[in-house]
Amino acid sequence: MNQTGIASTLPIAASDVAHSWDALYGFLVWLSVFFFILVVGGMIYFAVRYRSGTHPKAKYSSGNVPLEIVWTIIPTLLLMVIFAWGWVVYKKMIQAPADAMEVRVIGKQWLWQFQYADGRTSAGELYVPVDQAVKLVMSSEDVLHSFFIPNFRVKQDVVPGMYTSVWFRSNVPGKHQVYCAEYCGGAHSGMLAQIVVLTSEQWSAWKQGAKLGEIPVAGQKHAAVSDDRVESSAASAARFPEGTLVAQGKKHFEVRGCVACHSADGSAKLGPSLKGLYGGDVALSDGRKVRADENYLRKSIENPNAEIVRGFSAVMPTFKGLLTEQEMNAVIAYIQSLN
Ligand code: CUA
Repeated sequence: MNQTGIASTLPIAASDVAHSWDALYGFLVWLSVFFFILVVGGMIYFAVRYRSGTHPKAKYSSGNVPLEIVWTIIPTLLLMVIFAWGWVVYKKMIQAPADAMEVRVIGKQWLWQFQYADGRTSAGELYVPVDQAVKLVMSSEDVLHSFFIPNFRVKQDVVPGMYTSVWFRSNVPGKHQVYCAEYCGGAHSGMLAQIVVLTSEQWSAWKQGAKLGEIPVAGQKHAAVSDDRVESSAASAARFPEGTLVAQGKKHFEVRGCVACHSADGSAKLGPSLKGLYGGDVALSDGRKVRADENYLRKSIENPNAEIVRGFSAVMPTFKGLLTEQEMNAVIAYIQSLN
């Protein structure tokens, strides 16, 4: 959290990837400063050195091959360094570690809703433990939004009809501001949320549904830690509605009749079994192979005839519009659990 130089002009760096981005950003700024001084300094030098009083007549110069090679090669190398550096950090930002805790995020005009594996939900506040990789699996109920956490230096579009994801690991307990970074209508600027990074004691208390005291904004030097147990919206998140996310998904799976055609034990019915499906490759009737990730499952539920599994026929009706985003997340969590 101790930031010096260029980084001190930025919001606090509260995730591992934030420090990597700040280093690249600092490099770009100082590189720009260097060339600014070189170019503007050279301009001023030549303006003074060859002013009209001492050099009334200009000398014609028609090219200098060594000079042109140098000023082509140096910028090319610098651009390649910037590209490679950016690529390495981008990969780090995009690829969540395998042990990441998953949270579902739903964007809707104009709030952020969160669904946890234990079945709880919260709106406007996302609770996560400190030093733990957290993967957000995000979708939108209406229009394009963008989930932006400046302190973590991560931002990702949230798109209706598909899943996108982003991950972070924060080492700074406290509240971190979230913005919607894609214009999404009248109250776009009010589409805010906070990520509440909890210490391990707070996290275990929260897991058990306990109320948390007031949690200070991360990075504020004189954040008041109040002793009275203020009722935060942790209380609303402490409702345990209908069992875990997987249990909710199993219920929808039965109520919606999915169970009639899809077994959970590996036996084929009218449709393929869902056991061990998630994360593997699926052979399609048109010869292609697709990875069974969240987006594949979603597409198969909303538009089942787009990709027919080899050996089965196109008989499944669409469930588009019949499941809410929350229910969709739960059903997919249930399918994931069948591995
Ligand atoms: Cu949601 Cu802007």
